[in-house]
Amino acid sequence: MVPLLDQLQRLAQGYRGFHTPGHQRGQGAPTGLREWWGEAVFTADLAEIPGLDNLLQPEGILQEAQARVAEIFGAEHTYFLINGATAGVLAALLSVHQENGIILLPRCVHQSVIHGLILTGAKPIFITPEWDAQQQVWGGIDPEKLRVAIQQNCNHNITALVLNSPTYKGVCSAVKECIEIAHRFDIPVIVDEAHGAHFPFHPQLPDSALDWGADLVIHSTHKVLTSLTQSALLHQQGKRLHPQRIQACLRLVQSSSPSYLLLASLVATAEQMAAQGEALLTQLLENTADLTAKINQIPGLKTLWINFRQPGFVSQDPTRLVIQTGGLGLTGFALDELLHHQYHITAEFPDYGDLTFILSLGHTAADMQHLFNALQEISHTVQPEKFLPTIPLPPTGEFVLSPRNAFFSSHQYRPWSEAVGSISAATISAYPPGIPVLLPGELITPESIDYLRRIAEMGGAIVGCTSEQKIAVVSNW
Ligand SMILES: Cc1ncc(COP(=O)(O)O)c(C=O)c1O
Repeated sequence: MVPLLDQLQRLAQGYRGFHTPGHQRGQGAPTGLREWWGEAVFTADLAEIPGLDNLLQPEGILQEAQARVAEIFGAEHTYFLINGATAGVLAALLSVHQENGIILLPRCVHQSVIHGLILTGAKPIFITPEWDAQQQVWGGIDPEKLRVAIQQNCNHNITALVLNSPTYKGVCSAVKECIEIAHRFDIPVIVDEAHGAHFPFHPQLPDSALDWGADLVIHSTHKVLTSLTQSALLHQQGKRLHPQRIQACLRLVQSSSPSYLLLASLVATAEQMAAQGEALLTQLLENTADLTAKINQIPGLKTLWINFRQPGFVSQDPTRLVIQTGGLGLTGFALDELLHHQYHITAEFPDYGDLTFILSLGHTAADMQHLFNALQEISHTVQPEKFLPTIPLPPTGEFVLSPRNAFFSSHQYRPWSEAVGSISAATISAYPPGIPVLLPGELITPESIDYLRRIAEMGGAIVGCTSEQKIAVVSNW
C-alpha cells in the first residue's frame, strides 16, 4: 500500500483535533457541501498533525513520498507543488538567481516565467523561437541560435537557460541539443515540461527532459495526468543546484498550509503511473490515433501535423489534439463556441486558426466518438464566417527596462488606444495559453495593441488589463 495514503486514512478518525482546518474533518462543514462532496473529502483534509509532515521542510512521510515519486518519474529529487506548476517555475528561477544574473529563454514562455523574472530581477535575453509559417505554430529554440547567444554573452553571468517543451500545442523542441550546449558552458537548464508529465511513462511519447539531464523539470500533473487541480511536481537532478537551495526557494512561493488532498492526489497519480502507466497510455494512444485519423477524413478539418525537418521542431505529443479550422471557414474561437453551446463539448484552448484539446487518461473511446460525431455534424451544417481574419504573427516590442524595474516603477493606467509608445508595466497575456503578448519593460507597439484587440473581439480572454481594458504603463516615459 502507499504509506501517505494509508496514514491519511488512519489519521482521519479516532482523535479530537484542536487545530486547523476549522471544519474539523467535516464536523463544521457547510451541510450542502458535505452532502455534495461526501465525508471523505473533509476527513482527508488534514493539517500537519503528528504522523503527517511539513511540506516546507519534509523529514517524515512527505520526504519518503517525494523520494518514491522521484523514483517513479526517474528524477534524483522531486518536490511536491501545491500552487501549480507556477510555483515550480518561480522556485526554479529563484533558485538559480544571482546578482546581475541573465536568463536565456524563448519569447513564448508561460507568464509564470516572466513573473519569475519580476521576482528575481534577472535580465532576460530572449531567443526568438522558430515559427512554422505553414502551420502557424511556434516551435522551440534553434540550438545553433542558442550557441550563438551564449557565445555573445559569455562575459556576462548567465545563470540559466529556460526551455518550454512541449508547447501548449504539443510541439517538442531540440531539448537534448540545447541542454548539451548549455551544459558545455556549465549553465543550468530549467525545462518547463508542464504539458509533458506523461512523457516518462510510454516509449511512443516524446522523451522527457529528465532523460537528457535537465537540472530542473516542471510537470503540471494536473493538466495531463490525473492529480487534482493545482498539484504539480518539480524535479531536480545533477550537481549544479543544491537540494537545500531548491527547498529554501520553494518556501518563498508555497503555502505554509499545504492541502493534503492535493498531496495525496499527487502520490496516488504517481503510483497509478508506476502500476499501469504504460498500459493506460497505450489505450489512450490507440484511441487518439483512431480519432485523429477519423477527423482528418472530415471535409474541411485537419489536425496539426508538423514537418520535423526544421530546427526547433523535433517531435509532437500525439495526445495533444490540435484541429485546424480554416478549411471550414471558421476560426478556432468560432468552432469552440459551437462545440460548447450546441454540443456541450469544451475544448482547452481556442486560437485564430485552430482549437486545442487535451486528450488524457480520463477520456474513454465514447468521449472521443462523441467529439468526432459533433465535428462531423458541424462540417455538414456550418455556415462559414464571411470574413476569416488573416493571422498575424504574435508581435514583440523592444525592451527598454527590465521586467522587474518596469513592474515596480511608478505607473498609470491608459486605454489601449492611448498606450502605444508607452512602456508596459504589466504582463498582458491571451488566456489560455497564458503566453504574454506584452511584458513589463516592453515598448507597446501598434501591432501588439492590434493583436490584443483581435483576440478580444474573437472571444479570447485578455489577462493583465484592468476591467476597463486599461494597461498599466510606466509613468513619465
Ligand atoms: C507551459 C506552462 N507552464 C506553466 C504553467 C503553469 O501551470 P499551473 O497552471 O499548473 O500553475 C502553464 C499553465 O497553463 C503552462 O501552460
